[in-house]
Amino acid sequence: MPLDASLSTAALLSASCSGCHLAGNAAIPDIRGLSPDAMFTALSDYKIDTDGPTIMHRLMAGYSDPELRAIADYLGAQGE
Ligand code: HEC
Repeated sequence: MPLDASLSTAALLSASCSGCHLAGNAAIPDIRGLSPDAMFTALSDYKIDTDGPTIMHRLMAGYSDPELRAIADYLGAQGE
């Protein structure tokens, strides 16, 4: 059976998030329940703020906007 390329790309891009966000660390916000648009806005805001201090600012600088959209759609849809 052929792989669904777009789904597996989104799933792969999103897999790196769970190590922090689903690790049960109280210092890291729970991102489940964010809508796709709210997630995309949050990720874009980190990326745009290139002098931002958090790990998220550094991480998001490495993603293209289509990648952020794919991550937001994938994880946001899971939270519904
Ligand atoms: C190295 C650990 C780490 C990784 C990996 C990580 N995050 Fe984060 N994330 C954080 C921390 C810490 C914060 C809180 C930063 C702050 O104070 O703004 C955060 C904040 C966020 C927020 C804002 C939540 C809110 O309610 O304000 C979103 C959305 C988010 N991360 C999504 C993601 C996604 C999507 C990925 C994967 C592409 C990811 N994160 C990968 C540590 C991580």
